[in-house]
Amino acid sequence: MANWTPQSWRDHNGIQMPTYRDVAALNATEEKLGSYPPLVFAGEARSLKADLADVAEGKAFLLQGGDCAESFAEFHPNNIRDTFRVILQMAVVLTYASKQPTVKLGRMAGQFAKPRSSDVENIDGVELPSYRGDIINDIAFEKKAREPDPERMVKAYSQAAATLNLLRAFSQGGYANLKQVHGWTLEFMGRSPWAKKFSDMADKIGEALEFMEACGINPDTVPQLKATQFYTSHEALLLPYEQALTRQDSITGKWYDTSAHFLWIGDRTRFDGSAHVEFLRGIDNPIGMKCGPSLEPDALLPMLDTLNPNREAGRMTLITRYGHDKIESGLPKLVRAVMREGHPVTWSCDPMHGNVIKSDSGYKTRPFERILAEVRGFFAVHRAEGSIAGGIHCEMTGQNVTECTGGAVAVTDESLADRYHTHCDPRLNAAQSIELAFLLAEMLNREISERNSLAA
Ligand code: PEP
Ligand code: CO
Repeated sequence: MANWTPQSWRDHNGIQMPTYRDVAALNATEEKLGSYPPLVFAGEARSLKADLADVAEGKAFLLQGGDCAESFAEFHPNNIRDTFRVILQMAVVLTYASKQPTVKLGRMAGQFAKPRSSDVENIDGVELPSYRGDIINDIAFEKKAREPDPERMVKAYSQAAATLNLLRAFSQGGYANLKQVHGWTLEFMGRSPWAKKFSDMADKIGEALEFMEACGINPDTVPQLKATQFYTSHEALLLPYEQALTRQDSITGKWYDTSAHFLWIGDRTRFDGSAHVEFLRGIDNPIGMKCGPSLEPDALLPMLDTLNPNREAGRMTLITRYGHDKIESGLPKLVRAVMREGHPVTWSCDPMHGNVIKSDSGYKTRPFERILAEVRGFFAVHRAEGSIAGGIHCEMTGQNVTECTGGAVAVTDESLADRYHTHCDPRLNAAQSIELAFLLAEMLNREISERNSLAA
């Protein structure tokens, strides 16, 4: 990689990052983190890249999900377990319907830093620096709390390490055993009509497993039945932290950001000359880039040449986030340009970030209907263009929160206040996530059968 070092981003335009007042403390923290163990192994990042190459070819589907922002306050094993199991449930729904593997990628174990639309927040005439995520400052609206503190990076690292450890234990240690599929259902799914649908599907999976067992195929003979591969990801926003965890792989000599398997560049930091683009071009992990309505093909193509000069399969995921009313007019031109240039990319749909509204009750929310409409638009565009609708990227939680309106067990404007806990953007709750998975599975199924009939 020409002219790249783990710190070459420092000579580029770095926005959305804090200015630490205590430079000595910052340097000491970076040095400390640099001596800590990597959180993921390069070989794992390579196997995710191979999985994403399959997604790009329509042989698997990508499911990426988790909190908008993880927080120190909500750090609890039950929260990790509940989000993990909703992702498992969604994955089973998708796999069962599509007869294809689902690549599971958590926005977890490191998703702490947030880009903000304004550097400052104003409440009743008091102006303070904006909250930028728990890895940077504190959400409390107080002067001292909002001061960026490098020590928070160490706390975030240790929370990420503990979260990842539990996720590895759940995915490899028996919790993800398909025989447990009934046990994953959350109590409060009860009132949702989709809970019944999930339970019926779990019955059928159970029967299939019993049949296979009679044929000698069981979790002991086929380990894939008792374990699953679960990967982690976050926005690579706080570059001093990412740099400190970037290490040279002893096997290949390549550089990997070992803070997560997959890192992405946000919609606000994906411009020419950006420090974030500079950093990500040099690491060998699979990476993503958010693509919002302001991205023109003329800007996207050179960016792809920079980030994936060797046109490596599985390297680049484009996560589109247009908004339900803009996707069908905005996305086709990007798809056409990418196809014309022959750049291998995995297309994924983030139906969350273009669909934020302020509710009458004053909460930032996302109507379930609009989320669904964007997903529908995503499939329609890729069907029309002959490209692959590869995956979904959502902000969700296993908790029974009331942050997005709508869904079968409708969250109303008035009920948003009941359990609105997010540290940043509104998340789908468990019932809404499962509902989305079933509706998505229908679309995916239709797309796969159309593709198969065209190929026949
Ligand atoms: C996010 O994923 O939380 C986010 C800030 O997204 P975007 O960069 O697409 O706005
Ligand atoms: Co968000």
